[in-house]
Amino acid sequence: MSKETVLIIGSCGQVGTELTESLRNLYGTANVVASDIRKPESAFWQEGPFEIMDVLDTAKIAEVLKKYQPTQIYHLAALLSATAEKNPKLGWRLNMDGLFYVFDAALEFGVKRLFWPSSIAVFGPNTPKLNTPQHCIMDPNTVYGITKQTGERYCEYYQKRYGLDVRSIRYPGLIGYKADAGGGTTDYAVEIFHEALKHGKYECFLKDNTSLPMLYMPDAIKATLDITHAAAEDVKIRSSYNISGFSFTPESLAEKIKKHIPNFEITYRPDPRQVIADSWPQSIEDIEARKDWGWKNDYDLDAMVADMIKNLAPRYKSQGI
Ligand code: SER
Repeated sequence: MSKETVLIIGSCGQVGTELTESLRNLYGTANVVASDIRKPESAFWQEGPFEIMDVLDTAKIAEVLKKYQPTQIYHLAALLSATAEKNPKLGWRLNMDGLFYVFDAALEFGVKRLFWPSSIAVFGPNTPKLNTPQHCIMDPNTVYGITKQTGERYCEYYQKRYGLDVRSIRYPGLIGYKADAGGGTTDYAVEIFHEALKHGKYECFLKDNTSLPMLYMPDAIKATLDITHAAAEDVKIRSSYNISGFSFTPESLAEKIKKHIPNFEITYRPDPRQVIADSWPQSIEDIEARKDWGWKNDYDLDAMVADMIKNLAPRYKSQGI
């Protein structure tokens, strides 16, 4: 078996942290190069190769690719929906120019496979909201959604025109306990667990009845590794695949949390992220991913809530929960 070397760009975010751990388990710590704009101090990041790299710095990208000769790249660096609305120009630059730089470096250095995540943000107000199909009207109206939609088109283009083996999935909102979420509209679904365990209450920035598609992080990592390791001919969609776990509203999530923390209280104070959430689907249909490369989620809503609380509770033990 030929040796694989993996580069993760944007490794220290919510997805990257968990993906780095899984890829180290798969390929060995020495063969997984983490990179981000800064290096966190925690021991985890000292254990394997790490490069401080800005994806807008093409000279640095070339230097890192020359040094490690990665066979696979996972390019995760992006501004998420809420942050990109605050800084639209940077959102476009980081999400689009960054992607082009990685595409071109991957071609130049003969990288065998590239993973790049898209998002449910590619859909917009005229997209069917329920069981949103793979192919439908897509009119994203956020900077983040516009860059993800454009990125998808270019993934397909680079695969067809230059033979670059790019693979992509449209992540729903992602919930995990190992790393913080940051800058997204679905972040409430992570924050709520910390606040419930710490303070027994949470003020939600979305309205009680805002339904959004979500996925538990172990399933998101599984989907990422499954599509990246599928046979090339099985990855028939080269823009990005719909994948789905479950959908819930802040109110229904709070009810589930109350089963574990009976005194938990939720209040609502919608902020500008409500408008973003309202433009996105409420649930996703993912038949193509299931058919083409065998995608299947392991966690439903109840299993996710139980697992989040089991893993986070020890951190807040002093609260007596
Ligand atoms: N979770 C992302 C966000 O809220 C959507 O992909 O921005």
